[in-house]
Parts: sequence; structure tokens; C-alpha cells
Amino acid sequence: MAVGVTLLGLLYLFAPTLGLDPTNYEYFTSDGISSGLSADQPYFTLNGKNITIYSGAMHYFRVPRAYWRDRLQKLRAAGLNTVETYIAWNLHEPENGVFDFGEGGSEMEDFLHVEEYLKIAQDEDLFVILRIGPYICSEFNFGGFPSWLLREEQMGFRTSEPTYLKYVERYFNVLLPILKDYQFTNGGPVIAFQVENEYGYTVSEGYKPEREYLEQLRQILIKNDIVELLVTSDGITSTGVSGSIPGVFLQTANFGSDPEGQLNKLVELQPDRPVMTMEYWIGWFDYWSDEHHTVSADTAKDLYERILKFPASVNIYMFHGGTNFGFTNGAGLSNGLFDNSGFEPITTSYDYDSPLNEAGDYTDKYFVVRELLEKYNPVKTNTPDPPALAPKVGYPSISIDKQIPIAQVLTENPPHVINSENVIAMEMLDINNGSGQSFGYIAYRKENVYLGPYTRLIIEGNICDVVIVLVDGVLMSRNLESKDDLNWVGFWRQKQSFLILNREKKTNATVDIIVEEWGRMNGGNIHQYNKTFKGLWQGDVYIDTERVSDWKIIPLEFKKSWTNSLANWSDKTSSDGPGLYHANLEITTEPSDTYLDMRKWTKGLVIVNGFPLGKYAKIGPQQALYLPGPFLKNGSNDIVIFEQFKADDELSFVTKQIWNTV
Ligand SMILES: *[C@@H]1O[C@H](CO)[C@@H](O)[C@H](O)[C@H]1NC(C)=O
Ligand SMILES: *[C@@H]1O[C@H](CO)[C@@H](O)[C@H](O)[C@H]1NC(C)=O
Ligand SMILES: *[C@@H]1O[C@H](CO)[C@@H](O)[C@H](O)[C@H]1NC(C)=O
Ligand SMILES: *[C@@H]1O[C@H](CO)[C@@H](O)[C@H](O)[C@H]1NC(C)=O
Ligand SMILES: *[C@@H]1O[C@H](CO)[C@@H](O)[C@H](O)[C@H]1NC(C)=O
Ligand SMILES: *[C@@H]1O[C@H](CO)[C@@H](O)[C@H](O)[C@H]1NC(C)=O
Repeated sequence: MAVGVTLLGLLYLFAPTLGLDPTNYEYFTSDGISSGLSADQPYFTLNGKNITIYSGAMHYFRVPRAYWRDRLQKLRAAGLNTVETYIAWNLHEPENGVFDFGEGGSEMEDFLHVEEYLKIAQDEDLFVILRIGPYICSEFNFGGFPSWLLREEQMGFRTSEPTYLKYVERYFNVLLPILKDYQFTNGGPVIAFQVENEYGYTVSEGYKPEREYLEQLRQILIKNDIVELLVTSDGITSTGVSGSIPGVFLQTANFGSDPEGQLNKLVELQPDRPVMTMEYWIGWFDYWSDEHHTVSADTAKDLYERILKFPASVNIYMFHGGTNFGFTNGAGLSNGLFDNSGFEPITTSYDYDSPLNEAGDYTDKYFVVRELLEKYNPVKTNTPDPPALAPKVGYPSISIDKQIPIAQVLTENPPHVINSENVIAMEMLDINNGSGQSFGYIAYRKENVYLGPYTRLIIEGNICDVVIVLVDGVLMSRNLESKDDLNWVGFWRQKQSFLILNREKKTNATVDIIVEEWGRMNGGNIHQYNKTFKGLWQGDVYIDTERVSDWKIIPLEFKKSWTNSLANWSDKTSSDGPGLYHANLEITTEPSDTYLDMRKWTKGLVIVNGFPLGKYAKIGPQQALYLPGPFLKNGSNDIVIFEQFKADDELSFVTKQIWNTV
């Protein structure tokens, strides 16, 4: 270590005479490392040298592992000196007490090599800010909370309630020993940790954010040898100090407009401390059925320049948004009610209209950021040239060759069948070693039903979130053709669902009610957290006037091993109803990035070589799914689509995203 430092020091000494700028890391460490990021004066210092943090957000769990280095190189080449990422508890502890930090056997294991991400960041000459939660919001499923926490009745999410804190502490006691070696003062890249997230926003009727809770989190960090700067972040002009502890955490601000107003508020609250924007919203996310949101490059330039001029440190949120792969998207709950009627699922794409788009390509904003940093960063370091872009290929369309109607899957290939007196939420199923079902779909099946002509099905309470109802395998509920359909039976806005199941009498019908979990709330009223169950759980189900009991419940999690073992595929017939559809993509070269054009499909899930790529929905605004080359192989690629409504005969590929709301 000492030798390395001396060599670096020598290099740095000679660098100016050679006309070479030092690297970012050399600039701050050439004299050895004696102190980390300090906020004890009105500006930041790192290792005793003044520093302005020019950071960009990029979440490892939203980018294929094979692309981490490429994206971080691009981030550094824009002139940034730091990358920021959240840590997602729900992915790292997928079952109660079972942890995965890469190759841990969980469905998302390849995304979870946090140590590798930190090493690459350091290799690529970047410092790191870690926002460890436990709650992270981030438009991520349940704000990063594992869904099995919902099984504890008295769980006081985001409070000092003992059961909640017990689980937080157990998780942090596994996470933090991994992270501690990567701290700056231990020779690593991590210069700061954020605890909780926009905690001040939890102010609501009957709830006052607890300083005690923040202090308990801090104690867990200290016990685990976390020594770098601790910060909180909030919508500072509305929350003031309520989401932090003055003098203990450095407060930072999150905003997308009025930089001077926001930053002056920080100065007012912390007159002798540095000013930092933890989230400068350079773009925005999308909800399904809403318009696609953008922020122009001119507006982005104006706001970013005003932050730099202030002057303030700043993290661009998002620098590279990436993708909510599989089932990981979150949701809004807009109306503050507990009943799910204000549900707003986040799209699969987390493009965010950011400097690097979802596929890692440069946008106008990239060059805006690069130009402004060249102008404003007083510290000249060796910044690489922006790397070349990966080619995007629109593969020729492929035909659907095989299918299995979904009712047949439930009969012949159920992953589990749970007999239950009543309908229950997916989180409460006795599967996954007592952790319940986190993601996917849940089918409630009732066999041997007598249906007189025009029998009515009644589902009490709001659906969480989307339902399809099949009678003997035939879809009887409403199709989702346009966003107006969301106001009708089959979707979450109805307080009670009434549906005619049949026209003619049936003496021995099978009724399947298949409910989709389309993302758990990632923000909103703190009192809603322990009520955000998925499936049917808000009331009873009636057929005609009779309350239905004795269900077969079948969870459809689309785990890789199950999807890959599916048998009983039949040739594609003329039927196009709810079911699994298969197509084969034959590649004879190095696989490339591509996009699946889903405009002719209705709504569902695409699975590539066993990996759930993500949800699609014709209602938009997102119409294509980014399919990264590393998910494909030279040879035969299995693509399986779970179409919930009406399928097409083929699958087409395009080279860029298509935005359109219908
Ligand atoms: C660090 O920044 C402060 C505030 O801008 C300035 O007063 C001070 O001179 C700077 N120190 C060095 C060594 O540049
Ligand atoms: C099941 O859960 C228990 C307790 O949470 C844990 O100790 C055990 O390792 C888990 N078993 C498996 C096979 O994951
Ligand atoms: C939910 O959390 C609140 C605290 O926010 C707690 O008072 C309540 O008992 C919890 N449980 C349920 C089922 O609401
Ligand atoms: C295929 O379907 C038949 C009934 O049609 C069933 O008996 C068999 O178990 C199924 N095979 C598999 C592997 O699921
Ligand atoms: C009712 O249908 C099921 C299949 O759903 C079948 O196994 C059973 O034999 C049928 N019973 C009668 C009485 O027709
Ligand atoms: C793709 O696979 C074929 C057949 O196995 C092989 O001949 C070819 O070299 C491979 N191409 C690349 C780029 O890997």
C-alpha cells in the first residue's frame, strides 16, 4: 500500500511537466490517505483537498452486469468524478434470512455483485456515494423493501418499531461488513453514505418523522465500522429539517426546478456546511397509461449550470436510468387511500430521459453535461474520451411456433397448488421457505362450479392490481385495449367487480381468477406500507349469491427453472387468448442489443432464455422492450411471452424505443 501510494505521488508530481493531468483518484490521494469527505466547513474537502462532487446516478440493479464497465466509463468520460447508487434490500434478501450478493441462487443473482460494481467504479476512476436505505423509493418495487416483511402484522415500516428494526439490523449486519472495506479511508471509492430516503416526506396525518429512528440507523452503521460522511436527502423547501438530524447528518436537497430557492434553503438550514443536490432531476419516469415525460436539453442545461454556478455539489438523477427488469418496477398510490384505487404502475423502461438512454447511448444531455463540467470544474484530471456505442440490431421478425393456454398451464404445470378456504394475498402463501410470493401472478381456481345462464361473479374490494377471469379457459373479463379500459372491471380502480361469467348453463365449469402484481408502491403515505398486499385479499368472492370457498391457489412466479422446464407446448393454433407463446430467435453472430416491438401484443410479460425481461402493455407510453445483447447467445434463443389478453402471430425487433400512449 505504502509503496503504491509513493509511486502514485511521484507520478502526480511529474505529471504536470509531462503535460498529463492526474487521474481523479491520484489528484485526491497522491499524498496518501488521511481523511475522508468532510462537511465541517462551508465546502467539501476530501483528504484535505477541496472537492466539488460531480456525481451521476446509475443503479447496478437496473443495468446488465456485462455493461457496468461501459456505462461507468461513459459516466466518467462526461467529466463526472462520482457515481451514486442505491442498494436494493428486496433483491439482496429475497427470502427472510436468505441473502444474495451475487451467485446466491436468486432470480436476480447476476445483478447483485455489489462488490464488483464498486471495484469497477474505482477502476474507472470514480468515487461512489451509496444510498443504502433501508427504504430507497427509486420507483422500485416496494421502495426496495422485501415483500415478506408484510407477513409481520405489527410491522411499523420506516419507524423505530422493534420488529421492523430487528430485520433492518440483521440485513445491515450482513450488508455493511461487505461495504466497509470499500470506504475511501480504507482505500476504496466510497466517500459518503445516505441513510433512509426523503424521510421528511413521511410527515402526514398522525405521523411525525422520528429522529429516534434515524439515530438508530446511524448507530447500526457505526457499529459496523462505517466511518465516511453520513447524509440524508429531502425535498428541502417543503420538509425543512424534519427528515434529518441537524449537525448529525449533512442534509442534501432533491429537486427539478428553482435551484437557487432550494440551495439557499440548505444554506439557511446549515450555514456553515457544504451545499449539495442529491437528486437533480434531469428527466422523469413514466407511469403506464400516462404520457412519456421528457425535459428538454435546454432546460436541463439551464438548471445544471445554475446549480454549478451556485456553487453546489450535485448528483444527476438519473445519469443512466436503465431498466426495471422483470417484476422490479414500483408504483405510485396517488390518492392517499389504502384501497389501491390510486395505483399507478411504473413502466419497465427507466430511461428517465437521462444523459445516457436506457440502452447506454448518448443523448443531447450527455454533451450538455460534458461541456458544462469542462467549463466549471476547476480541477483538471485525466478524463477519457467517450467510448464508442454498441450497435443496435433489428433482427428479422420471428413467428410464434408454440403455445400453451394459461388454463392448461395451471392444470398441467402448476409450480405449487395451495388449498385454501379463503382467497389470500400472495405474500401470505406458504411457499419460498415461509416468505410467501413476492412477484408475478397468482391464480385462484375454483373447479366443479355450476353456472346457470348469465351467472354473476362478484369480487369484493379493489383488485391488486389486474385480473383476468377465465371460464373453462376462455377469457370472460375485459381486454385492455386503451387506457380508458382501466376504469372498468378487471382493473384496480373499481371498488367491487361484477362480471357475467357465461351465457349458457354450465354444470361443471372451472373458474380461474388470475391476478397480476404490477408493482408495489414505492412512496406515499407511511400508513399504507403494511397494507400493500397483492392478489385478492380485500374481501370475499361470490358466484351468484354464494360465497366461494375451498380454492386452489397457484402462484406463477416465472422462476427460471420452472419456465425452462415447461412441457406440453403445442403447435401454434388460431387461438390467441391468454397463454404462453414461444418463439425462437436464431443468432449466428455475436448477439447485439435490440428492442422487441410489442405494439401488436396487448399486455403481459416477456421472458428471454428463462429470464423475465419485463412487462409490456399496449396502453403505453412504452411500446418496445430493451433487450440487451448479453441476455442473448450465439445460437438458439427461447423467447416466451405470457400474454394476458390477445396475442399476435409474430414478434418484431426494432433498433430504438417507441413512445406512444393509446
Ligand atoms: C477551498 O475553497 C474555499 C472556499 O471556496 C476557499 O476559501 C479556499 O481557499 C480553498 N482552498 C484551497 C486550498 O483552494
Ligand atoms: C429457510 O429459512 C430459515 C429461517 O429464515 C433459514 O435459516 C434457512 O436457511 C432457509 N432455508 C433455505 C433452504 O433457504
Ligand atoms: C401498520 O403500521 C402502523 C404504524 O405505521 C401500526 O400502527 C399498525 O399496527 C400496523 N399494522 C396494521 C395491520 O395496520
Ligand atoms: C402433459 O399433459 C398431460 C395431460 O394432457 C399430463 O398428464 C402431463 O403430466 C403433462 N406433462 C407435463 C410434463 O406436465
Ligand atoms: C368436471 O371437470 C373436471 C375437469 O375440470 C373433470 O376432471 C371431472 O371429471 C368433471 N366432472 C364431471 C362430473 O363431469
Ligand atoms: C456463432 O456460432 C457459430 C456456430 O457455432 C460459430 O461458427 C461462429 O463462429 C459463432 N460466431 C461468433 C461471433 O461467436
